[in-house]
This record gives sequence, structure tokens and C-alpha cells, in this order.
Amino acid sequence: PNEPREQWASRLGFVLAAAGSAVGLGNIWRFPYVVGEHGGAAFLFLYLIAIVLIGYPVMITEISMGRSTQKNPVGAFKALAPNTPWWLVGGLGVLTGFVILSFYSVIAGWSMSYIFKAIAGFPEGAGANEQLFGQHIAGVAEPLIYHFIFMVITVGVIAAGVVKGIQRIVELLMPILVVLLLIVVFRGVTLEGAGEGLAFLFSPDFSAVQPETILSAIGQSFFTLSLGMGAIITYGSYLSSKDEVPNSAIQIIGADTGIAILAGLAIFPAMFALGFETTQGPGLVFITLPAVFAEMPMGELFGFLFFLLLSIAALTSAISLLEVVAAYVIDEKNWPRKKAAAVVGAIIFVVGIPPALHAGVLSDVTIIGMDMLDFYDFISDSIMLPLGGVLTVIFAGHVWGMKNVADEANKGSRGLKIGHWMEPLLKYVIPLGVLIVMIVGIIDTLGG
Ligand code: PHE
Ligand code: NA
Repeated sequence: PNEPREQWASRLGFVLAAAGSAVGLGNIWRFPYVVGEHGGAAFLFLYLIAIVLIGYPVMITEISMGRSTQKNPVGAFKALAPNTPWWLVGGLGVLTGFVILSFYSVIAGWSMSYIFKAIAGFPEGAGANEQLFGQHIAGVAEPLIYHFIFMVITVGVIAAGVVKGIQRIVELLMPILVVLLLIVVFRGVTLEGAGEGLAFLFSPDFSAVQPETILSAIGQSFFTLSLGMGAIITYGSYLSSKDEVPNSAIQIIGADTGIAILAGLAIFPAMFALGFETTQGPGLVFITLPAVFAEMPMGELFGFLFFLLLSIAALTSAISLLEVVAAYVIDEKNWPRKKAAAVVGAIIFVVGIPPALHAGVLSDVTIIGMDMLDFYDFISDSIMLPLGGVLTVIFAGHVWGMKNVADEANKGSRGLKIGHWMEPLLKYVIPLGVLIVMIVGIIDTLGG
């Protein structure tokens, strides 16, 4: 090997990096509109249950797999189950990181360009903002340039290393993100009429709960915590065995959940106060919210802060996606880190060109009835991620075994320890739950 393997310079560095991976477009762009579609507080309640029963055990498992092997996902499975095909699950994770990043970077690019659009001032009305957004994503140069810039920044961080790149950037950016979000929340909840938005978020109407509400709560819990594709295995592989796993997992999950709720608080009170509807789907953040900013006092400033924080959240997730693929070629193919970051990043940029142009020159190109952005999103979020998650949990429960998971997770832990209560969750409940989500999701998408 060219360079000795790095370790986080402190446990806080690890927690911030993993929280940075978790907190992303999933919290600020996706979570609010999924909450909006599923009736607000009732969804929030189910989501919290999914986080505790699924998110926590899987987070513990992935950190432990990484820490005990000190390897990328492929190497981790190889080390824990030598001479078996289980390494393919790690390989699936690497591939998933590759695909997710290629379109994640496109959406992050929209967010970056919206930083400047916000300063210039958004037009008034949802219709005008829908047109603005449509024009933006249908362009050629703009989506490609921002996708490119975002990938260059991501590559730069990964090339600089685990401590000097990832840890340094998350220690700088995560506090900024929280402060910016608090400012935008404060603006929203102090608008006249904001109370209705608070009620929407916090007083559950359980009559709105459908089977699919439960399924999307489970689906969101996996994506939002960066589970099922090796990002947390990879970050765990830079953790020292002296550091605590159970407590770190709680802090990471607490940060992710807290920021998702704050994102809801940044958006719904302001929307209700200014008289906008809640169920806009993916356009919520790029269409409805700009219209809200256009009518808000000092909306240019708050719009600027919002899209800046959205871009920061996306960056700290994107670096974890690239690190999965980079760690794989560094460990398994002996590439130097800088070459790994640059070559992999360049390929991911190219693979992201079709989704970047999905609404423009490639708007006629569809696969199984989906445009190129929906298609990338579908194969990664609806197939690869849950499949990787199910297989990882089955591996941990049935092959590596509960005793090994618990021994590793509890090593170095002074306070909280993991008990065998987790075993039925790992062995049966989580695999079954996630498998059902995956199958229903596929049937739904292909059938409807
Ligand atoms: N957790 C990130 C989000 O919420 C997305 C992500 C998934 C990042 C998988 C890394 C790995 O946006
Ligand atoms: Na998240």
C-alpha cells in the first residue's frame, strides 16, 4: 500500500463526518415533501418509530463492521466471511454510491445555482417559479456547469484525505449549517399565521395513515441515515477501537432527525403563513419555497441562506458517497488517494450527464417510462439501497452473528451497551420490513 490507513483525529470528528453524511438532500429537500404528502405529524410519528427499530440497529451494525475490519465495504465483507460470495454485497454498495452520487450532484448543482437566483430575488407566485425552475433544469450549460463544479469540490475534499479533507470540512461546515438553519427557522415561525404550520407538523391525524405511509417511513429512514450502501461501514473503518459505538450512533441519528424536523420548521410555518398549499412533491423546495421567499420580508437574504445551507448539506453527504468508491480502489486496487478521487470523480461526472440533461436535450429519452433523473433515482433508492440494506442485515444477523456484532459494538463503550434484544430485529424484522418496502415500491412504480 502507498499510504498508511488514516483514523479520525477524534471521536467528534467521526460523529460529525457521519452526521454530515446523514444530513443531506434527504433531510431538507426530500423529508419535508414526504411529510407534506403523508399528512404531517402522523408520518413524523411513524418515521420516528422506524428510526428507532431499524435505523439504530443497522447504524450500529455498519459502524461495527467497518471498525472491526478497518476496510472499505468490499474488504469488510471479505474479511468477515473469507472465500464466500458475500463481498458482492460490499460491491453492490460501491456501485450504489457511484449511481447515487451521479444524480445527487445534479440536484446539489440546482441548489448551488439557486443561491444566486435567491440573491437576485425570486419572482412572485408559484406559477412564475415553476417556469423559472423548468427553464433552469431544461438548460444545457447551467445544469452541467454546476454539476461539474460540485463534483470538483467533492473530489478536492476526498483527495485531501480523511482527516485533512473530510474531518476538516465537516468541522467547519456542520456548525455553519445548524446556525443558518436556525436563522431560517426563526424567520418562519415568527411570521404571522405560522401556528397552522406548526400544528400540521406536530398534531397527528392518524386517519391519514395508509399502509404506504408506513412503507415510505421505512424507506426514508434508510436513505436519510446513509444506510445500506457502505458509507457508514467506510466511515466506521477509520474509527479507533477505543471509541464508543452505541453513543456515537445515537448522536448521529439525533443530529439527522433533529435537522429533518428543523427543516420542516423552516418550511411549513412560512408556507402556511403566506398561504401556500402543502402537497407539492419534489418541487416543494425549488418551486413553492422560492415563491414563499418572494413574499417574505427580506426574502432575498433568507432565500440565499436557505440554498446555501442546502448546498452545504449536500456536499457533506456527497463526500461520503465518493469516499465509499475511493476507499474501495485505494484499499483493493492500491491506487493513491489523489488518483482515486480524481478518476472516480471524473467518471461519476460523466455518468451524471444524462440526469443533468433529463429535462433538456434528453427530455425524450426514457427507460421503463421514466426520464433519466427518475430512472437513476428509482434504481438506486428503490432497488439498490434497500437490497444492499437487506443483505447487510441478513449477513450481520445470520452469518457474522449477533454475538460478534455486540462484542464489537460494545468494545470501548463505557456507558451504553448493546444487548441481544437486537437479534430478532437484525435476523427477521428488519429484513422482512425492508424487503416488503422494496417489492411494493417496485410494483408501484412499474405498475402505475
Ligand atoms: N443521507 C443522505 C441524505 O439524507 C443521502 C445519502 C445516502 C448519503 C446514502 C450517503 C449515502 O441526503
Ligand atoms: Na439524511
